[in-house]
Amino acid sequence: MKALPEIQSLHPYQPGKPISETKRELGLKHVYKLASNESPLGTSPMVRDAVIAAVDEINRYPDGACFEMRQAVAAYYGVPPQNLMFGNGSDEIVDILVQIYCDPAKDSILTSQGAFSAYQISAQSVRVRAQTTALTSDLRFDLKAMAALIEKDPSIRFVFLPNPNNPTGTYFTAEEFDAFMAVASRKDLFVVLDEAYVEFVRAKDFPRGQDYQKKYPNILLLRTMSKVFGLAALRIGVLIAPPEVCDMFNRVRKPFNINSLAQVAVVASLRDKEHLEKIKQVTWDGLDYYHAQLDKMGVKYWPSQANFVLFDCGRDAGEVFQELLREGVILRPVKPYGMPNYLRMSVGLQEENEAAIRALQKVLR
Ligand SMILES: Cc1ncc(COP(=O)(O)O)c(C=O)c1O
Repeated sequence: MKALPEIQSLHPYQPGKPISETKRELGLKHVYKLASNESPLGTSPMVRDAVIAAVDEINRYPDGACFEMRQAVAAYYGVPPQNLMFGNGSDEIVDILVQIYCDPAKDSILTSQGAFSAYQISAQSVRVRAQTTALTSDLRFDLKAMAALIEKDPSIRFVFLPNPNNPTGTYFTAEEFDAFMAVASRKDLFVVLDEAYVEFVRAKDFPRGQDYQKKYPNILLLRTMSKVFGLAALRIGVLIAPPEVCDMFNRVRKPFNINSLAQVAVVASLRDKEHLEKIKQVTWDGLDYYHAQLDKMGVKYWPSQANFVLFDCGRDAGEVFQELLREGVILRPVKPYGMPNYLRMSVGLQEENEAAIRALQKVLR
């Protein structure tokens, strides 16, 4: 039997190249992976202890309602527990939202070209049409073009806006978002702000989703435990949404979508304030270092509000990627985003950042 045409035309998500594979293929001893925007600090000791203590009970199903984790996350974000839902990574949340609210026969979703790819994949996999607007010349979302499309197209059920965006690291301002919401505040449309990297943002004019949610009931917020909280392997995404949306979500999600080790890890991670602050500081220092070094090298890049930076290799980034691999540095090509000459470089520990810059100096010379 043949798969549906919409599925056949999907391309498998290409994760960052694993360290072990690179070592094996190229016979390298040291490999630095700066390809997946992960926390470079390893596991928080408090998380390690909590996970080890919970290991003896993995014969039991997890708490499907995530009671303790829900209380901890609610307190951390300052929202009522009934406004929270969890997904096996925030990508599962996107899947479920599209499933709940989009009729493939007549509805569509809207996002930007160059935006994080998960939204288009989720839509296409359930045969919902995905529309995009072009990026501006400085690789930012064109919220005016999006608003214009929303005004004339009643089929749009979701607008997915990662802010800051991956892979560009760029963001839209509060002023731009105010103007956008004046048009997008509608009952038949959800605006999903994906704030996966919000903890790293330093820009003063950044629109904080939780402030906007108080004013606009059609804003849904996505957060993830994969970045600043350092729990990428455990797959935990958070949805902050009105209780009616959470109620529908709860009907569709699988009963045990958050495993028990993930649940205890989240509780411990939110308690380990010191580790969290350290990740932020390491990220900010690393980002400042990258920006300064790329400036010195005369490499064009887009100043980032996240934990990575996108830069222009000035030639085919696939080749540069291969040359960097031979230097033991794994970065991320972003050709699938329509950016064949750019590479994305995550912030690591200072030693890793320096290794990446040294390799780049050699390869881009
Ligand atoms: C904008 C954005 N949203 C969501 C995610 C994925 O988060 P999760 O690990 O919770 O699926 C990423 C991961 O790279 C991302 O860049």
